Amino acid sequence: MKILTPLTFLATTVFAKNILMSNDDGWASTNIRAFYYKLKEAGHNVYITSPVSQRSGYGGKFDIPESNVLEIDGEFSYPPAGSPAWGHEEFDDHIWYFNGTPASCIAFAFDYLLPKYFDNVTIDLVVAGINEANNYGSYFTLSGTMGATYNAVYRGYPAISFSASNWNNSFYKDNLDLNDPLLESTIVATKAVELVNQVFESQGENPRALGLGVGLNVNFPAVGYDDETCMDPKWTFTRITGEAAAGADLQYDEKTNTFGWGDDQTWAPLTACYNGDCTLPSETYIIKYGKCQATISTFSIDFDANAALTSQVKDILNPLF
Ligand SMILES: *[C@@H]1O[C@H](CO)[C@@H](O)[C@H](O)[C@H]1NC(C)=O
Ligand SMILES: *[C@@H]1O[C@H](CO)[C@@H](O)[C@H](O)[C@H]1NC(C)=O
Repeated sequence: MKILTPLTFLATTVFAKNILMSNDDGWASTNIRAFYYKLKEAGHNVYITSPVSQRSGYGGKFDIPESNVLEIDGEFSYPPAGSPAWGHEEFDDHIWYFNGTPASCIAFAFDYLLPKYFDNVTIDLVVAGINEANNYGSYFTLSGTMGATYNAVYRGYPAISFSASNWNNSFYKDNLDLNDPLLESTIVATKAVELVNQVFESQGENPRALGLGVGLNVNFPAVGYDDETCMDPKWTFTRITGEAAAGADLQYDEKTNTFGWGDDQTWAPLTACYNGDCTLPSETYIIKYGKCQATISTFSIDFDANAALTSQVKDILNPLF
């Protein structure tokens, strides 16, 4: 029975990886902190570089601080105006904020923080989130969580974006409770670690955890206090567009002569399938109509249309050449 000791030791060391984490809800949000601690609990070495304030909907926007001092309070006044424009938790020098966007937070990590303070440690995987609210379908381009993810993929890192269903903007000092089994942040962080560990386990001796230019988009359904029948969502393979995939729209109000958000619209191009596995259900459909299912979609940053579509366009433009 003594043999169990070295085996357990081996299992924990094999999967001790270096992970960079960002989000768009800000470094002080409950979900990112829960994810951080759950990955550390699993033995990983984790670094957070996240915006100092809520940067949801910033997509891939690449803001850089205009000064080295914060002019306005960070989210939840944490930290307050007048603090440095980047810095870390006093109690943990792996948890950093940066007065930028999710996309520039990834660059901040690779171009400044890791080389300057962490011996240019090799990052095995970049994760973003866990976002407050789902990011599916056309939100690929709108979401700051996705912005961080595809910026990491551009730079050659495997990256995974995670989004939960509850959009409450929550401060970790009010809400983090890693021992509450019904808390959404705790449940989704635990599930996210399960996926991350599977990616590393399958990686084995391969130098990369996912193919070059490939990333994943993961969404969780309502869980725990929001749906007590769903404590352990079932993984489901999906595609990003397809049935029910929708995009943001606006609504004009005659009376007030103002615009507001309209309902998301399912436009035909969002349901067409040109790339990927067309037999898979869309992540939007599964999150909206599925039963306690978590979705995993694969994307690549090869933005080109496929060969058949490219050839159609070549025919259209042929006289120009
Ligand atoms: C850090 O490591 C990366 C990847 O090995 C390399 O491309 C980069 O030049 C290094 N940066 C510094 C400042 O050493
Ligand atoms: C939402 O977040 C606020 C601020 O952190 C917190 O006080 C509140 O309890 C949260 N509500 C839920 C339903 O999680």
